[in-house]
Amino acid sequence: MLGTLVLLWLGIFLLLLLIMMRRPKDFPPGPTPLPLFGNLLQFNPNDPLKELDKLSQRYGSVFSIFVGGRPWVILSGQEVIREALVTRAAEFTGRPDHLMISHMLENNGVIMSAGSKWREHRRFALTTLRNFGLGKHSMEERILEEVKHISAHLERYAGTSVDPQNLFHNAASNIICSIIFGSRFNYEDEYFQTLIDRLKELTKISLSPWAMIYDIMPLLRCLPLPFRKAFEHYEKLKAHILKVVAEHKNSWVAGKPRDMIDCYLEEMQKVREKKIVVQCLSFDDTQMVVLLFDLFLAGTDTTSNTLRTLSLYLMTHEQIQECCQQEIDMVLGSREHVSYEDRHAMPYVQAVIHEAQRVSDVVPLSVFHTTTANTQIRGYSIPKGTLIVPYLSSALREKGQWKFPDEFNPQNFLNDKGEFVKPDAFIPFSAGPRVCLGEGLARMELFLILVTILRRFRLVWPEDGGVPDHSLIFGGTQSVKPYRLGVQLRL
Ligand code: HEM
Repeated sequence: MLGTLVLLWLGIFLLLLLIMMRRPKDFPPGPTPLPLFGNLLQFNPNDPLKELDKLSQRYGSVFSIFVGGRPWVILSGQEVIREALVTRAAEFTGRPDHLMISHMLENNGVIMSAGSKWREHRRFALTTLRNFGLGKHSMEERILEEVKHISAHLERYAGTSVDPQNLFHNAASNIICSIIFGSRFNYEDEYFQTLIDRLKELTKISLSPWAMIYDIMPLLRCLPLPFRKAFEHYEKLKAHILKVVAEHKNSWVAGKPRDMIDCYLEEMQKVREKKIVVQCLSFDDTQMVVLLFDLFLAGTDTTSNTLRTLSLYLMTHEQIQECCQQEIDMVLGSREHVSYEDRHAMPYVQAVIHEAQRVSDVVPLSVFHTTTANTQIRGYSIPKGTLIVPYLSSALREKGQWKFPDEFNPQNFLNDKGEFVKPDAFIPFSAGPRVCLGEGLARMELFLILVTILRRFRLVWPEDGGVPDHSLIFGGTQSVKPYRLGVQLRL
């Protein structure tokens, strides 16, 4: 009797769930969801993009899936992504507020905030990065300083091989540290490694199935499951940032900013003295900490994973590497340092970097957006608050948009005259008002680091390295599998 009752209630519960999971009228189409899981079970966790491609072929460039009880709208192909994020930006720039990462950052800072808080912090961070009101050191100088350390590290391994994962990760973190905290760490520094390990671990959990369980099963959030670890790591990283901010408050001199923290303190001072009345009203210590964390988080894995994929392709495409080196030698001659301006004279190197970004496909599903009002796209109605996934991978591999969509080929970015050209489908940084805030910094890093390395070293696949594997490990930020980078000094 009890068993029958339980089954009956379970049946009613599942039926209710199914009714709740019905797509509203004129909503983008998609596969039928199952109760509780939605469409999750039809995705292979190691290669979910394959399933998205199949669904896109079946339903078109705008379709929907259910993750748990919530519908996600997927935008596939560069045209519809641009239409939503650029042409109809006003309705597509929101951020979801129910995800683990939103809760962790309390919808503060830049990445997960919205409205005036987001606008004010984005404007501040962009202006600070662009104009570099950061004392004597420009962004380029800070990158070149780090490049010296990368070079010195590689030199120690000349004739052998090195693990590029830690090297590029440390270097990318250090560049961000230099910009926001005004100082860098030695690669061997234990405290630095602890910070980096925490950041890696936090990123890993935030992009794991545990984060998805947190997102779709609110009742489980209070249990001591692995997602709680991500919150602990965040608290520890926050404590570090707070400590550095406190030190800055003691040593800060108005009008002489050393780094982004000083710039932010100056902005807060202006607000207090009412020199800025309309803007920056949301500036306070809490927002500053999350903003600094945002840059640390967003600027590390992305750049270092791109560098790793780029180095792998250069090792396995020797001719392309040699063409880069010829161009670099010709343009730089006997000059000691490369400058970012040199990129205009290096179309081939530019094409190689962009092609590496295309195939590394670092952020395949972008950062999720939400709609800020009831809206329409391609004839479908999308209610306010719907989660939107700009499927950036689909554009980076889109047939008809690239001369060679399925191979690593710099010709994708060169015209008949050998000039560098950027096709519209190149959107690894996304597009519109939410476009990656660190795009300028990342481009500069990739160029200065690559040119310096290739000028001094030949990258070779180690004899004992097995068969090179270019496939990507799926994740919120993707990367190739670990490998060793063979380095030889160039004469
Ligand atoms: C956002 C890609 C490097 C900071 C994003 C987004 C993508 C992206 C796809 C989502 C945009 C959207 O929501 O539509 C990349 C790639 C990078 C890179 C491929 C390197 C190759 C960096 C760096 C920084 C950074 C170095 C640090 C300065 C940010 C921030 C956001 C963001 C703060 C949130 C912007 C907002 O919500 O307004 N990035 N990124 N990124 N990125 Fe990057």
